[in-house]
Amino acid sequence: MAEHLVATTPERDGADWDTVAEVWRRAPAQTLWRRHSDRVNSALVERWLPSGTGSTLKTDLWDEAMGAGLYPAIAARSERVVGVDVSRSIVVAAAERYPALDARVAHVHALPFEDGSFDAVVSNSTLDHFDEAAEIDRSVLELARVLRPGGTLVLTLDNPANPLVALAKVLPRQALNRAWLRWADASARLGLLPYHVGATYGRSRLRTVVEQSGFVVEETTAIVHAPRPIAVMIGQRIQGGGRFLRALAALERLEQAPTRFVTGHFVAIRATRLA
Ligand SMILES: C[S@@+](CC[C@H](N)C(=O)[O-])C[C@H]1O[C@@H](n2cnc3c(N)ncnc32)[C@H](O)[C@@H]1O
Repeated sequence: MAEHLVATTPERDGADWDTVAEVWRRAPAQTLWRRHSDRVNSALVERWLPSGTGSTLKTDLWDEAMGAGLYPAIAARSERVVGVDVSRSIVVAAAERYPALDARVAHVHALPFEDGSFDAVVSNSTLDHFDEAAEIDRSVLELARVLRPGGTLVLTLDNPANPLVALAKVLPRQALNRAWLRWADASARLGLLPYHVGATYGRSRLRTVVEQSGFVVEETTAIVHAPRPIAVMIGQRIQGGGRFLRALAALERLEQAPTRFVTGHFVAIRATRLA
């Protein structure tokens, strides 16, 4: 195993994400953008997660810690919802908002569950913060392990073909992260993120990795077509927001266009665990 994989411990990752969450909470809120993001991701869950699912695992709790998140959409389709996150402070915040959520501190590389424990896994933009693509492969295998045969995987990753994602990947990451932590207010107003865009996969490579991990891929798409930095900047300057949210929702119709795998911020895949 490469040295950096050994060096990346759940404790170090958890502490890093605790810091990110703390800075984020102090910075100007991105309320309208979070509402839009929750709506788009919840709509994907409503389309792809079968209703009457028994137990569902969500692989990070950022959305539920920072806003309403996807929990209401997942809980409406599942008898039981379990959520993990590597950051303790994120887990605590999500559990306070949703007492019925079974929230635990865990790293996606080593989930504290028996084989086949879940009927579904929802993983939205959790696996796209690693340094190396091999860590995504390892995580997808771990998700396959905890899913029962026939179970559903709903997975999204940053789309490397989207120009904003591609730009974020070539910018000097560590310098920008340091600048974000120092000038969090200004950075948040510009719609910048306090964490780096890590290794990720485009649609075809993601499909191959998911298939090689023991799944049949049922469907792929691309979501979140509204350009995030512009939407965050405008959203922080306006009152109300109903019309603005409707305009962002209209941009999401680009999911029907042939250009969706360029305009979408995330590639999304629905897959079924093989026996
Ligand atoms: C940027 S946020 C996810 C974005 C959010 N789902 C969304 O779409 O806006 C990343 C979240 O994943 C969590 N996380 C990062 N690496 C993780 C890992 N290896 N295992 C579990 N959670 C992780 C972080 O603590 C954080 O809450």
